[in-house]
Amino acid sequence: MNPYELLKNDHEKVSKLFERIESASGKAKLAAFTKLKDELDVHMLVEETIFYPALKQAAETRDITLESYEEHQVVKDLLAELAAAKLSDRWDAKFTVLKENIEHHVDEEEDDLFKKAKDVLSSQQAEALGDQMAAEKEKQGAPVPEELKKPSLFQRVVNTVFGEKTEKRPAKKTSAKTGARQTSTASSKPSSKNGSKKASSKKSAGKKKSAGKKTSSKTSGAKKARKKSAKKVTAKKR
Ligand SMILES: [Fe+2]
Ligand SMILES: [Fe+2]
Repeated sequence: MNPYELLKNDHEKVSKLFERIESASGKAKLAAFTKLKDELDVHMLVEETIFYPALKQAAETRDITLESYEEHQVVKDLLAELAAAKLSDRWDAKFTVLKENIEHHVDEEEDDLFKKAKDVLSSQQAEALGDQMAAEKEKQGAPVPEELKKPSLFQRVVNTVFGEKTEKRPAKKTSAKTGARQTSTASSKPSSKNGSKKASSKKSAGKKKSAGKKTSSKTSGAKKARKKSAKKVTAKKR
C-alpha cells in the first residue's frame, strides 16, 4: 500500500474533524473532539512505530524525523489538556493552538518529509511500510478505506513481473551519521518518549510555516487560506 496516500488520507480526515469541531457546540463538539483524538492517537502511533523509525536511519531524513517526534509530543500534551478540560473560551483558544500546530506539522510532512522519504526509501520498502501501517491501523480499530488497499501501479507491475510474493530488496544504503544501513521494517520505540517538550516548544516557536505547495485537492483551499494568515503558534502551557 502507498504509505503517503494512507497518511494523507488521515490528514484529510483530521482536517474535516477540525471544521466539525469549530462549527459544533456542547456535547456534539466534545464528541467530535473525542473522534479527533482517537484518529490522531492511531495516526501518531503508526507514524512513530513504523514510518518514522525507517526514516530516522537515513541522514537525509533524520533531523526532520526527530523534529516530527517532538511535534507529536506537543500535540499529545495539548490533546490531553483539552480532553481533561471543560468547554470554555480558553478551551477554544487551546484548540486553536492544537489545530495550528497540527497544520504546521502536516504541511512539513507532506511538503518535506514525504518528498525526502521518496528519495530514501525504495518503492518496495515504502509499500511494505504502507502495508504495516494499514495492518496496525486495522488492529487499532481504525479501518483503512478499501480504495487505498488496492495495489499501486508499481506494485501491480512488480507482482506481474516477479509474482505476488516478491522478496524485499536490501535497504537502500544511506549516508546516515551512524553508518547503519536503513531497514524497511524498523520497529524501534519513538524517541519522543524521552524527548524534551520544552525544547520542542521553543523550536516550534521560532519556526515559520512551510512554503511548500500542497497537492491535495480536497484541502488545498483551506491550506492556501492558512498560509496567507496563519503563523506558527507555540504550544505554550497555560
Ligand atoms: Fe502525519
Ligand atoms: Fe506526524
